[in-house]
Amino acid sequence: MESVFFLGKHSLYAFLIALSSHILPCFSYTSFVFGDSLVDGGNNNYLFTLSKADAPPYGIDFKPSGGQPTGRFTNGRTIPDIVGEAMGGQSYPPPYLAPNAAAYSIQTGINYASGASGILDDTGTLFIGRLPLKEQINNFVKTREYIVGVMGVTNTTNLLKNAIFSITTGSNDVINYFQPIIPFLRNNNNVSPNMFQDFLVSNLTVQLERLYVLGARKVVVVGVGPLGCIPFIRAIDLIPSGECSGEVNALVQGYNQKLKEKLYQMNRDLWPSAVFVYANSYDIFRDIILNHHIYGFEDNHGPCCGGYFPPFVCYEGRDVNSSSSVCSDRKKYVFWDAYHPTEAANLVVADQLLNGDKSRSYPMNIRELYNYDIK
Ligand SMILES: *[C@@H]1O[C@H](CO)[C@@H](O)[C@H](O)[C@H]1NC(C)=O
Ligand SMILES: *[C@@H]1O[C@H](CO)[C@@H](O)[C@H](O)[C@H]1NC(C)=O
Ligand SMILES: *[C@@H]1O[C@H](CO)[C@@H](O)[C@H](O)[C@H]1NC(C)=O
Repeated sequence: MESVFFLGKHSLYAFLIALSSHILPCFSYTSFVFGDSLVDGGNNNYLFTLSKADAPPYGIDFKPSGGQPTGRFTNGRTIPDIVGEAMGGQSYPPPYLAPNAAAYSIQTGINYASGASGILDDTGTLFIGRLPLKEQINNFVKTREYIVGVMGVTNTTNLLKNAIFSITTGSNDVINYFQPIIPFLRNNNNVSPNMFQDFLVSNLTVQLERLYVLGARKVVVVGVGPLGCIPFIRAIDLIPSGECSGEVNALVQGYNQKLKEKLYQMNRDLWPSAVFVYANSYDIFRDIILNHHIYGFEDNHGPCCGGYFPPFVCYEGRDVNSSSSVCSDRKKYVFWDAYHPTEAANLVVADQLLNGDKSRSYPMNIRELYNYDIK
């Protein structure tokens, strides 16, 4: 306090400006988002696909669009939307497939995620159009070329070094593994759960290594959530209320464990020139479902919109009264539709990933990752 008192008014301002330019990163919050429908920011709107969220009531609580659908598979913001907002992002990264998206790549980053996609190229075939993870990274290669064209290699390297890369994928691979293509005939006959987990982790690792080579240094890899508890899996597996499919959750947990070990190894090899954060969405969602009252939820098992029975469609009919019912208080539901969480649940997860301890994000949370000084 005393030293501040002796500084003249102008030199104090100069001092604070100098101080803040040292503390604050030189770049605004830029993020590159990869993954599936949990984080799709509208790419599937531009594809011929059965996996779309381009009609009401999707987006009903999304303020920037005035409640109109944007292609987000939830009622409001996704987890990367909320995280970006909390970190001071200027606006949400636009979908890669949107016209002129590249122009925003330097300020906000880009969203490459695509509903129905997975780690494996074949995942989501039933939905026809989608961008598998490998193709999403191919698209990032094109964005990177654009940025290099605008600001040169050195500045691009700096921009990418400080940007947050997040990958939220794997759920559709697991759902496809269990989901019969022909009813009552599972299509996983030759691949054991153990082998399948290894395929997922090794295929994902190939893409993470590509990202590193392309310049990503702050990478958040989101584990798969407790899919055995989502309304879709519980309905097709005839799981009673209050329970989850143990078989599905066991496969997910085995995958998450192997993923976490892989990231641990990558950190050991690359630290401190890169950080790979494991985001433990499994334990966070499990906690929300088990202790939903603590978080202010009343319903932790049924979807807010669409049926609890096949075909699980959440839609709005010609007039309001012929719509599939939307629950009256969307803040009280964990699940928006049979597959996806509500914005209210996303807010809880985003908060824990941003600010939580090592049991939530390992080895550091997203806020720490953002402020981390990459060598
Ligand atoms: C690269 O960054 C430096 C320092 O911020 C700046 O002076 C320069 O104009 C940038 N180069 C290009 C091509 O944008
Ligand atoms: C990727 O997964 C496929 C199965 O879809 C497997 O045959 C292949 O070996 C995996 N590739 C890598 C690099 O692990
Ligand atoms: C929908 O139902 C409400 C009463 O339940 C009625 O007041 C309203 O006029 C109906 N709207 C339409 C478009 O039919």
